[in-house]
Amino acid sequence: MEHEHHHEGEVIIQASDLSVSRGGTIVLDNINLTIRQGDIVALVGPNGSGKTTLIMAILGLLQPTKGTVEILGHDSKKMKFDGKIGWVSQAAANLPKNIRITVRELVTLGVLSTNSLIPFRRKKKDTQKKVDEALRIVGLQDVADVDIYRLSGGQRQRAVIGRALASNPEILVFDEPLVGVDRASRNSLLKLLDELCHKENKTLLMVSHDLPAIRQSAHRVIYLDLVHDNDCCSGGIHYDGPTDQFPDLVGLAALRGIRNVHEGASPVVTSHGESSPVVIISGGLKEEE
Ligand SMILES: Nc1ncnc2c1ncn2[C@@H]1O[C@H](COP(=O)(O)OP(=O)(O)O)[C@@H](O)[C@H]1O
Ligand SMILES: [Mg+2]
Repeated sequence: MEHEHHHEGEVIIQASDLSVSRGGTIVLDNINLTIRQGDIVALVGPNGSGKTTLIMAILGLLQPTKGTVEILGHDSKKMKFDGKIGWVSQAAANLPKNIRITVRELVTLGVLSTNSLIPFRRKKKDTQKKVDEALRIVGLQDVADVDIYRLSGGQRQRAVIGRALASNPEILVFDEPLVGVDRASRNSLLKLLDELCHKENKTLLMVSHDLPAIRQSAHRVIYLDLVHDNDCCSGGIHYDGPTDQFPDLVGLAALRGIRNVHEGASPVVTSHGESSPVVIISGGLKEEE
């Protein structure tokens, strides 16, 4: 089977020899990662394995101790976001309750910073069009003028996704976007993300614990984990390959407690075409349905 992440699309994200420390501990150790246009990549791993850290480093929001990240060929630290990247941070939907803002206003924030050079009149019409489109995509037209604090958790999550989509970004970077989203909304969102990637060639990097959702949508899974050596630990990629070869919960359970399966594990092909052992630590993922 030809795996979709081996396609030759334009390189969108390139992390090279990337190491990142947090609070004096190396969280990511020598990460090499290539994400191409149209990829739908799920980033998984136990709590604390560095998923958010990797996202922040990719976005240039955390200073690496070593290595570089390029987005569309530019050093991500020096890059202006300029609407090219739609980012939903972890817990983005936990908006402060004391701020009264409607769904439409929230989504509008996603466009405002990106078109400041366009003359005001055109800008206003243009902004409205983009906001309406984003509201339609996330299915919140009917509550556009409702205060966000009155929405359900799932609706609020869709509102922050709407904000991320409003500038029509090429790259979507979502950190646990499905938390608190009910099943029906989750399915429509996954369908939407799938369409954005397949029809409009957008690129999606999504952190999720939701294995069914990942199996439904991602082409490729990247599994992050910490390796505990004798006296130190460092984190890195322990699986990077097609979604359909990522172990299911039965596979994970069979490996429970086993930290390193160098022997006897079927080698998996990484995105670079090399073989690498699968290393699994239990926990951090949930399989339902
Ligand atoms: N602001 C911070 N200061 C120090 N350590 C942090 C900070 N944020 C996260 N960490 C540590 O970095 C590691 C990775 O965290 P994180 O990237 O948030 O993991 P994940 O998103 O996979 O749950 C954890 O050990 C966490 O305790
Ligand atoms: Mg996180």
